[in-house]
Amino acid sequence: MQLATLDDPAVIRAADPGGMLGLIAGTGRQLLRGFELGTDTGLIPSGEGIDAVVMCGMGGSGIAGDVVRSAFGGVARVPLVVSKGYSLPGFCGRDSLVLAVSFSGNTEETVAAYAQAIARGCRVVTVCAGGELAALSEADDTPRVSIPGDVSMPRAALGYLSAATMGVLSSAEVVPPEAEAIRAVANLLDKLAAELEPERPEPENKAKALARWIGERTPLVWATEGPAEAAGLRWKTQWNENAKMAAFCSVLPELDHNEIEGLGEAARSRFAAVILRHPNEHPRMAVRVDATIDALARAGVEAQQVWARGSTPLEAVFSLIMLGDFASAYAAILRGIDPTPVPVLTNLKERLRS
Ligand code: F6R
Repeated sequence: MQLATLDDPAVIRAADPGGMLGLIAGTGRQLLRGFELGTDTGLIPSGEGIDAVVMCGMGGSGIAGDVVRSAFGGVARVPLVVSKGYSLPGFCGRDSLVLAVSFSGNTEETVAAYAQAIARGCRVVTVCAGGELAALSEADDTPRVSIPGDVSMPRAALGYLSAATMGVLSSAEVVPPEAEAIRAVANLLDKLAAELEPERPEPENKAKALARWIGERTPLVWATEGPAEAAGLRWKTQWNENAKMAAFCSVLPELDHNEIEGLGEAARSRFAAVILRHPNEHPRMAVRVDATIDALARAGVEAQQVWARGSTPLEAVFSLIMLGDFASAYAAILRGIDPTPVPVLTNLKERLRS
């Protein structure tokens, strides 16, 4: 049963007691603060002679690495590698810059990766709000970016975590100084938040409209290669954690070589495809997207295209993320579910800790 309207502020407030919508709206402010913290951190290891940047983290923290790689993979002077798990890639050594990113600082995989980085003599920086990673950084004299703990959930700290990571990379001169670019994204996100906030009524609010259009169907989030890729992953994980629904993400063109074949009769009405697009796509992408949508239509699967706003890769990735963040929170509220708590994954963590 879906709520009849998403336009009653009292209903929205009651349905979102953790204030997830407000946190999403504040992403621009987080970006500014996070970048400041990342660049202000003393003792950032020199980027001179480094062979790679490895960004470690899980879930809502790990995605900071995907965002940075999506936005800066094209300009960074060394490979930007995202590592999600207990172990570092084999090549990591003294000339690798390793960032261990965990909002809580207590994620066991990230703590294990950090310990490995220290043991291998990598140049290490931690990004966290506290926890074990903060204590280890202190004990090991590892530079740490201290993230404000003023958000309820790690995934609601993406602005802080990703901008802090960018700040570190900018200080280490791995990517160009980005303060101006960060300000431009923050302005764009503030504008976007005003278009997508709860007070904006459903007929003119794209996030509310998308949440209602997807309804109880499983979203297939298909991103065109480049900056939309990190946004596709974020849409999926936000649909999982905010709306508590299954969701899948894939990348075009790769999915045209496999996934598109798997949408037989059974897919009809079970899925809704959202195609995330951005202005710097390869010229062949337009014709490919049209052909892919036709194939979807033949399988009986409805599709909508969503375009990034802004012109830079950083603006593209964050504008797509903000739309998906709002839409996933509205999807939760439509279904009468509180977007903030994640009881299943919290229980799993508790069991692993005991
Ligand atoms: C919860 C969330 C999770 C966590 C993940 C890692 O909101 O998004 O995906 O981010 O379990 O925990 P942290 O971020 O504390 O390292």
